[in-house]
Amino acid sequence: MKKHDKFFLNGLWVSPDSTQVHEIINPATDEVCAEVPLANEIDCVRAIESARAAFPAWSSTTANERSDFIHKAADELLNRADELADAITLTMGCPRHICPNLQVLGSIQAFRAYADRAKTMEEIEQRKGFQVLKEPVGVCTLITPWNYPLSILIGKVAPALAAGCTMIAKPAEQTPLQDFIVAEVFEKIGLPDGVFNLLTGIGPEVGPVLCGHPEIDMVSFTGSTRAGVQITESAAPTIKRVCLELGGKSPLVITKDADLAAAVQYGVQNVMMNTGQTCSALTRILVDESVYEEAVSMAKQVAEDNIVGDPLDPQTTMGPLSSASQKSTVVNYIRKGIAEGARLVTGGEEMPTGLTQGAYLAPTIFADVNNQMNIAQEEIFGPVICMIPFRDEGHGVELANDTVYGLSSAVFAKDRESALAIARKIKAGQCFVQGANFTTDAPFGGYKRSGNGREWGEEGISEFIEIKAVLGR
Ligand code: NAI
Ligand code: MG
Repeated sequence: MKKHDKFFLNGLWVSPDSTQVHEIINPATDEVCAEVPLANEIDCVRAIESARAAFPAWSSTTANERSDFIHKAADELLNRADELADAITLTMGCPRHICPNLQVLGSIQAFRAYADRAKTMEEIEQRKGFQVLKEPVGVCTLITPWNYPLSILIGKVAPALAAGCTMIAKPAEQTPLQDFIVAEVFEKIGLPDGVFNLLTGIGPEVGPVLCGHPEIDMVSFTGSTRAGVQITESAAPTIKRVCLELGGKSPLVITKDADLAAAVQYGVQNVMMNTGQTCSALTRILVDESVYEEAVSMAKQVAEDNIVGDPLDPQTTMGPLSSASQKSTVVNYIRKGIAEGARLVTGGEEMPTGLTQGAYLAPTIFADVNNQMNIAQEEIFGPVICMIPFRDEGHGVELANDTVYGLSSAVFAKDRESALAIARKIKAGQCFVQGANFTTDAPFGGYKRSGNGREWGEEGISEFIEIKAVLGR
């Protein structure tokens, strides 16, 4: 069992002031697999002071210096890719053979991409009578969830480092282990003390300090809308910048003349990947009514082709939910869907065949869903799809946008042009047309209650920048 008993503060592994510890559970076995300390207020303040003390020197480094550190860190993360994948599989159940590609290697590549983006900080824009400069926003709190624990951390750490910010990382309670590896990597490459600080703690307990302390300039958060609201409230009295990447209920619109089999395969697998725990998952499949029944039977087949089981078995395509508590949240939604009158096509709340323990659920499809139902409006965050028929394209777009969320979306139509015409009408930060793949080169973030920032790509660094105008000749 992996036992951590120190935080990484000011370049050193430091014993916490708090004596409380937290046990991490492997969701595939329900057994304790690791232990980490839980920070108290004194520990949080130490981390904040360390990041604050490091800011003047780090923010004065050249883009080339920061870029070198980013490359060195990416090299060292690659050396430790297997350990990173082991840590993620152990704590959140992503199948081990899928984990390197889904959760680790792309993230490390994406990290490296920010080495070049550091240069943007040195661009001085000369306009008539004044200059526009870019400066790092300051000391940042980075709070991450458990579904893509490494990628989401890197999506914040990489632009923060590139911009010249210092930071405190606080991983999710369920999945802290890869963050300790990341801290070891920064220690090994000699990142200046205090630039990256790590502590573990219970969100609602450490949140008010990490998100409210006057020495914090910015909070970058990915997780639930509920926590996003609390974080914003903690940050409001001192007017911090708060960047939020929250939930979603993303639509996939399939028109009557689309390649139905390809569209359904794409949509169902998009959701079942990572056991439905992807904020941008296409969990509402909207289909033209003339091909709806055909789509439902195709979706059933694709869902049932998944092999649910032990994340260490190379045959497994879908592991457990990340925790017993997440499974019970999802089970409650499945019950709600049945009570609301949706048709359960496959899956349900029972343990998948052959499994007796662990947070497992079978891929679940609901048909005859009405967009007003709870299961169509609320983020379930599990392997559950709602299939909803529409009358014509206008109605399809209306249903797609009839949600408080707006993170992602997708369209399958007759051809690219027809799909693009629909894509332009959807209120969401991303739209995947005709089966496109995710890339960390593209800006990612939400409309409406899905959030307010953009991570990844060129845009990702702008969250960490202050703009300064210098006037006069
Ligand atoms: P959560 O939002 O409570 O946890 C995510 C992170 O926020 C963790 O690091 C947690 O410690 C921290 N946190 C929680 N409350 C906080 C507070 N008051 N101040 C500061 N930090 C705080 O999410 P939870 O409870 O684990 O999952 C609930 C639902 O949230 C899921 O069912 C899903 O719908 C959604 N979710 C969305 C994610 C996304 O990628 N957008 C990721 C994880 C969860
Ligand atoms: Mg929570």
